[in-house]
Amino acid sequence: MSAADGVTARVPAKVNVQLAVGGLRPDGFHGLANVFLAVGLYDEVTASPAAELRVTVSGPDARHVPLDDSNLAARAARLLAERHGRAPHVSLHIVKDIPVAGGMAGGSADAAGALLACDALWGTRTPRDELLACCAELGSDVPFALVGGAALGQGRGELLTPVETGGTFHWVFALADGGLSTPAVYRECDRLRETSGTGAGIDSVPEPRPSQRLFDALRTGDAEELAISVSNDLQPAALSLRPSLSDTLKTGTAAGALAALVSGSGPTCAFLASDARSAEAIASALEESGHCRSARTTTAPAPGATLIHG
Ligand code: C5P
Repeated sequence: MSAADGVTARVPAKVNVQLAVGGLRPDGFHGLANVFLAVGLYDEVTASPAAELRVTVSGPDARHVPLDDSNLAARAARLLAERHGRAPHVSLHIVKDIPVAGGMAGGSADAAGALLACDALWGTRTPRDELLACCAELGSDVPFALVGGAALGQGRGELLTPVETGGTFHWVFALADGGLSTPAVYRECDRLRETSGTGAGIDSVPEPRPSQRLFDALRTGDAEELAISVSNDLQPAALSLRPSLSDTLKTGTAAGALAALVSGSGPTCAFLASDARSAEAIASALEESGHCRSARTTTAPAPGATLIHG
């Protein structure tokens, strides 16, 4: 297949092994210390020549993906075209395997994939730092989808510093029925902080700090240490909006997970396993329990957005 026929980018999902949420900033975002880990669940975005911009989606969750102007892949194509002074005429086809509105940055993955695939299709050769700037404009989690591996995200999550990893971590993801809105989960986090008397504003919440113990665990590939170090400040908010997730977390823990946490803003739940065999056992227990729609096993770290055709 030549670039004239179509170019495909493969982009990973993420789990946040630390999501420390600071106070609400005047711009409506929260300051973060956000340690992203890319995991081996992927969306594929194919860009092909077309007379106008259009987006199609396939996969089990396809009907939940918005195809209007809010679609992040379409916005990515428009932004890149604008930057190069050309029309955004392209057909984008997304093969969706990352859960929609699941807390695994699936929409962000599609945006990063669309940028990379359109750049290759159009031959616009955008420098990496400009691609990253486009990613940051599209959303807080989009730069990481391009970069992959593991990284600390500061600011609203878009200012990335690579994090060293050693070895392979085994994960299980429990997919839920229906999604959770990220802004709604952040709002609930603020509400819970206000009602507990700690406030929600930038002056009343301590500045979020990354955990050195977590970095050490990632670097040495020590799953038991990583299990002790993971944390997600959005978890109480996700559980408040979706109390049934606590049954999902308990089921994975009872089946041998080293750690059980909500992935990002949820409702996907993430379980760290000691090895591939344990991951399979945790996934079977989750599926048999009925406390999730389905369970997927995978490994981390995964590479960032990569061209696979064209
Ligand atoms: O950047 P992104 O479009 O992914 O953010 C979606 C929403 O999530 C924001 O509008 C905001 O409500 C919330 N958010 C936040 N603080 C962040 C990132 C996202 O409050 N650091």
